[in-house]
Amino acid sequence: MTNQISASARTGLGGLTVARQPWICRTALLLLFLLMAVSFDSPALAQRGKYKTLGYRSCGTEQGACHQSDGVWWKGDPHFGTVQSLKRKKQRSVRIATAYGLAPGSYLKGNSKCAECHGEVVGGREGKNINTGVSCENCHGPAGPKGVGYYEVHQEGSVPKDPLSTARPGYQKALQVGMLQLRDTGIRAKTCVQCHQINDKKLLEADHPTGEGFDYVRAIRNQISKHWDYAVRPVDVDAGIFASAVAARPIPSFTVKVAAPAQVVAAAGVARTDTVFIYVDPEVPPWLNPGTNISISPFAPGLSNDAPVDSILIAVKNYIEYVHEQLRRGK
Ligand code: HEC
Ligand code: HEC
Ligand code: HEC
Repeated sequence: MTNQISASARTGLGGLTVARQPWICRTALLLLFLLMAVSFDSPALAQRGKYKTLGYRSCGTEQGACHQSDGVWWKGDPHFGTVQSLKRKKQRSVRIATAYGLAPGSYLKGNSKCAECHGEVVGGREGKNINTGVSCENCHGPAGPKGVGYYEVHQEGSVPKDPLSTARPGYQKALQVGMLQLRDTGIRAKTCVQCHQINDKKLLEADHPTGEGFDYVRAIRNQISKHWDYAVRPVDVDAGIFASAVAARPIPSFTVKVAAPAQVVAAAGVARTDTVFIYVDPEVPPWLNPGTNISISPFAPGLSNDAPVDSILIAVKNYIEYVHEQLRRGK
């Protein structure tokens, strides 16, 4: 890891005009850069020091723009749906949030503890509800404010022919002002672990999952690599690097302080109806976007505990078809 960080620090310096400076100055800058590269450990916040998140729309994820292909990947990735997932698990979220000491309606607000990991908080909108899932800047570092963060500088220079080249001046300058070098497997591991390994004792006592046992190698291989896995390079996943990042963020011992929720039992013959909210995003393909709220009844197969596997699978299949049908009707 030390080797990788100093290697990226060296290339990082390539973008600065210090080549003709005395070596002592270069060493000081190298040390400074090393500190910058390794000294973040707060969750992926909207604000990291002086940097603020501008929001995924400023990344150019729409058609024909800079990061169209990254946007396409993202919209199919689990991180896109993290806010929706919180809204769907409302009962559980409210229970955790209340036990954590938050007002019931406030867990979706940009300045709540929950927003640190469950969504993208656009700078200046901290008091509003978050409505975008974990996004570009949660992983790559906040790009704003304009003129301060890497938003402008990372665009300098033309896109290199070799997609793996990091020599472009804009890339190098961006690393100096908050863009994380996620190519460095150590920094990447730390980025994932700071959200996926929950070490806040109060949150754990509020019955939030710990994130223990999360399979990082599998996650990189199956999800994240689809985002940047250029055909020209193997996916470099090193379980050891994740193990060290996990070990550096130990989960404290804790006792859950909230009572288990009462079982929700539907009255016989009456189907309980849950409202499912579908977030309407103009950039989402229409087939994913019914454009209105729809109502579905919960999965209630009415099978006995010892029902054969075949019957269970058929019940699941019928339910999926039913949900699909409702979604189409919502359009
Ligand atoms: C440090 C990051 C972090 C913070 C802070 C955080 N979460 Fe989470 N949360 C996660 C991750 C990662 C998962 C997925 C964990 C898993 O599946 O093991 C998760 C899962 C959940 C789930 C799903 C649980 C389930 O059983 O499916 C709920 C609900 C939830 N969080 C609510 C909250 C609420 C409410 C808050 C604020 C009080 C909050 N979270 C704060 C990272 C975080
Ligand atoms: C869950 C975390 C995560 C999210 C969300 C995410 N990325 Fe990435 N991104 C990564 C990782 C990890 C890499 C891999 C770096 C490497 O090894 O090259 C990467 C690589 C990239 C690269 C190539 C980087 C390089 O060094 O040349 C670009 C460009 C990029 N992402 C843009 C985006 C954009 C735009 C979005 C939002 C639409 C986004 N990313 C969302 C984690 C993320
Ligand atoms: C800003 C916080 C944050 C960061 C950074 C982040 N994640 Fe996540 N991730 C989440 C949350 C929250 C969920 C969804 C939990 C839920 O909705 O139940 C999630 C879901 C996932 C899932 C799908 C759920 C599962 O258990 O399979 C995968 C895979 C995943 N993340 C991998 C990664 C990897 C790999 C990285 C690092 C490159 C990363 N994440 C970085 C917050 C984050």
